[in-house]
Amino acid sequence: MSRIGTALRRPWIVPFYFLVFGFLAFRLPSYLGFDPSKSTAATRLDLPFYYPLLVAHILFGSVAFVTAAIQVWPWLRNRNPKLHRISGRVYVLGGALPAGLAILTITPFLTHGAGQKAGNALLGLLWLITTIVGFRRARQGRIVEHREWMLRSFALCFSILASRFWLGPAILWLEPEVFTMGVDGPPAVQDQVSTLTSWIPWVVNLLIAEWFNHRARYQALGRQAAKRTAAKVSVPAAPVEPALAPNTKTPALERSPDPVP
Ligand code: HEM
Repeated sequence: MSRIGTALRRPWIVPFYFLVFGFLAFRLPSYLGFDPSKSTAATRLDLPFYYPLLVAHILFGSVAFVTAAIQVWPWLRNRNPKLHRISGRVYVLGGALPAGLAILTITPFLTHGAGQKAGNALLGLLWLITTIVGFRRARQGRIVEHREWMLRSFALCFSILASRFWLGPAILWLEPEVFTMGVDGPPAVQDQVSTLTSWIPWVVNLLIAEWFNHRARYQALGRQAAKRTAAKVSVPAAPVEPALAPNTKTPALERSPDPVP
């Protein structure tokens, strides 16, 4: 299929890359000079380790962001498995793991209360767990499970982008007074807004990833059932495949489609 054909069949690709690189172009420059006064996120100057770890999180997070964007490009996955493997390793070892560990270290010292801390701590932990499990499944050759876990990991990674979209609607729905008070409203209201945006984006992204995973599993099972029925009709004496135990490495399930459309 031509590249234009691919872009038409997957209309999300161009806007998606535009958003990923737009986010980085917009956010990264404030941190490249390593100057805490330029930080747009709150910093803790009373804690000497806070700002370096925040910057480490953002730099490694950017590596994760770019390599995850490369991984979800269907053309690359199918046509260049070697590059897919290399960028996958960079995503895990040079992006998600160091970025997740850096942010988890400073999460207890975030400035917008327990709701923000809890949301980010859980997001960071789940990001590490889904990435490590996905990486291990690839090394074990359990490719269907590898795809499912990496989709979860990417969904958590891209929740940072989604949080920018949720900010406006979340405030409008749950804390509309922020619009009249401005960003310098009372700290309690700022904390509540931070809590909302520390939970909603990743929970929603994870639910969407689960939906894709379930759909791919059911489609694979449907195809297997159709094949068995066809085999029975054409060759009545053919042996029937045994039922699949969960989490077993099976050639039939390995052929399940990509969950990413
Ligand atoms: C998925 C796990 C992640 C967690 C738990 C997390 C958490 C956080 C937290 C708590 C902050 C500080 C916010 C504040 O104090 O206002 C932050 C800032 C930031 N993070 Fe992450 N993050 C994650 C992934 C990522 C990724 C993948 C990127 C990709 C580039 C990223 C880029 C940034 C940037 C640019 C900032 C600074 C935001 C600003 O200037 O307003 N993060 N992150």
